[in-house]
Amino acid sequence: MSDRLASIKQEIMDGIEKRANSRAAAFELRKQFLDSKTGKIGQLMKEMRSIAPEERAGFGKSVNELKEWALQRFLELDEKMKAKELEVRYELEKIDVTMPAEKRETGNLHPITQMRNQIIDVFIGMGFEVFENREIEKDYYNFEALNIPKDHPARDMQDTFYLSPEFLLATQTSAAQIHAMETKPLPIKMLCPGRVFRSDDDATHSPMFHQMEGLVVDKKITLCDLKGMLDVFVQKIYGEETTTRLRPSYFPFTEPSAEVDVSCFECGGSGCRLCKGTGWIELLGCGIVNNKVLENCGIDSAEYSGLAFGIGIDRAAMLKYGINNIKLLFESDLRVLKQVNDN
Ligand code: DAH
Repeated sequence: MSDRLASIKQEIMDGIEKRANSRAAAFELRKQFLDSKTGKIGQLMKEMRSIAPEERAGFGKSVNELKEWALQRFLELDEKMKAKELEVRYELEKIDVTMPAEKRETGNLHPITQMRNQIIDVFIGMGFEVFENREIEKDYYNFEALNIPKDHPARDMQDTFYLSPEFLLATQTSAAQIHAMETKPLPIKMLCPGRVFRSDDDATHSPMFHQMEGLVVDKKITLCDLKGMLDVFVQKIYGEETTTRLRPSYFPFTEPSAEVDVSCFECGGSGCRLCKGTGWIELLGCGIVNNKVLENCGIDSAEYSGLAFGIGIDRAAMLKYGINNIKLLFESDLRVLKQVNDN
């Protein structure tokens, strides 16, 4: 019998030495010997009954000693494995605090977004609030209500993507004027940035581009208010020296209408490549809101008047940042986009 105990002891020592290379393996090994049902030492206990009564006490004592001894060994083994696993973890999770930090590249906003934000800042400073644009629009809002009926030649000014006879992709943010006048209490001072779509594609035109609509409706609004606001706008965006010039133009929803030129901020007006030698650069369209448009929105044109303007955000950004092809704004070439950081 003592041979059997000795061989179990040996087995345990061999196992500890050769097989227990992790806490899980040590646990398995422990089960093989100490599990109360299946363990080899547990089995020995069960054999007590078949042992001659006079030997039973001695046998029991030896088995108990073996059990105590084994328990002790496995406890030590578990401690050892715990320490080993901790060491491995320490090694894996080691941090060298003296290592130089990883450089994180920070991006910057897209030039169009930068320009949009700057324009918004200027007009918010003058008390405007921002209104949300719709990209899918009804013919009524994009054209009819803006005094551009179905057969009006002004429709030719904008090549439209129709989705159905009634719905289209907005060709201008001017539709927001109608939504604002239909929903907002008077007086109104709103600004509406948005994406617009036209079937148009060359170096200075893209089928999708960005506009910023402005609308003020109040009592006694005049062309002077419009000119004053636009002067502030161009000075904030293109420099204090910049001024504006209003040229008579035609838009069905404004009367009178004007096209606004800015004095060339590149040459100061003496003539250069940017202004094509004229000293002026065309920037936006504007005017006094046509009475018909006010009436279309149920506003009494005898009491109220309005001013409106529409700025091409892409064009404004191209001029400011010296970008000569609108495609550069849409190609996502980081070499180009990185150069514009005006925040
Ligand atoms: N919607 C015009 C366009 O896309 C721009 C415009 C002109 C807007 C005059 C206005 C305005 O509000 O008064 O060409």
